[in-house]
Amino acid sequence: MPMKLPFFRSKKEAQPIQAEELTNVPEHVAIIMDGNGRWAKQRGLPRIAGHKAGMDVVKETVELAIKYKINVLTLFAFSTENWSRPKHEVEYLLRLPKEFLHIYLPDLIKNNVRIETIGDFDSLPNYTKEAVQYAKEKTKNNDGLLLNFALNYGSRKEILSAIKSIMKDFDDEKFSVEQVDENLLSQYLYTHDLQDPDLLIRTSGEQRLSNFLLWQLAYTEFWFTDILWPDFNEEIFVEALMDYQNRSRRFGGI
Ligand code: FPP
Repeated sequence: MPMKLPFFRSKKEAQPIQAEELTNVPEHVAIIMDGNGRWAKQRGLPRIAGHKAGMDVVKETVELAIKYKINVLTLFAFSTENWSRPKHEVEYLLRLPKEFLHIYLPDLIKNNVRIETIGDFDSLPNYTKEAVQYAKEKTKNNDGLLLNFALNYGSRKEILSAIKSIMKDFDDEKFSVEQVDENLLSQYLYTHDLQDPDLLIRTSGEQRLSNFLLWQLAYTEFWFTDILWPDFNEEIFVEALMDYQNRSRRFGGI
């Protein structure tokens, strides 16, 4: 059994583990940021206060991803199922990207972060689309961390829409049935130019995928924590990274 490094070497030293001490860091980390509502409820606050706190933790997590040399951070910010929440909560959630970018875009630019999204972008409200499009444009030449927001994202919808596009292109004789393979299907997904996640983190104690990256997570390592998203911090993140570095990924081999 490989030894598990403590986040702090010893209580006396209270020196955090240095980023360089972590080996085998996942290149792509995907996070289901869950538990904002419960976090707010525990404090007698409205649910949206939890989302606001969650937004600030997104910024802190981006900084951690940079510190620990992760290449891609994909965050589940709004699912196709989230539309069924009360209207004012949906609107608040869809205004958060604008609020986030209003506060943090200058910093993200300074940190060489590139912003992208996956999901049904066109069906988002204009106030979301305009803010995100502006940020994508402003950061498109950055080559540091890729911060990828899953916005209005649902995996089944993604796969279905890929199948429809494949069928159209097949009708247009762009390829034969024999040429339809995993690689071709991957090219029709929102994630076509992204490597699959190496590590999936879900907060708040729930252990399900909730229609997130069903195709892309086929060989991803999963890590769950009871911590609610607004309480996510460096210690928890490092715990996930250290757990990941001890996993043996065989991709179906031996
Ligand atoms: C799930 O918690 C979380 C969401 C549906 C939204 C996640 C969004 C953020 C963390 C902020 C996004 C920030 C940016 C920058 C876009 P929940 O509301 O389902 O919590 P609960 O299960 O405790 O009710």
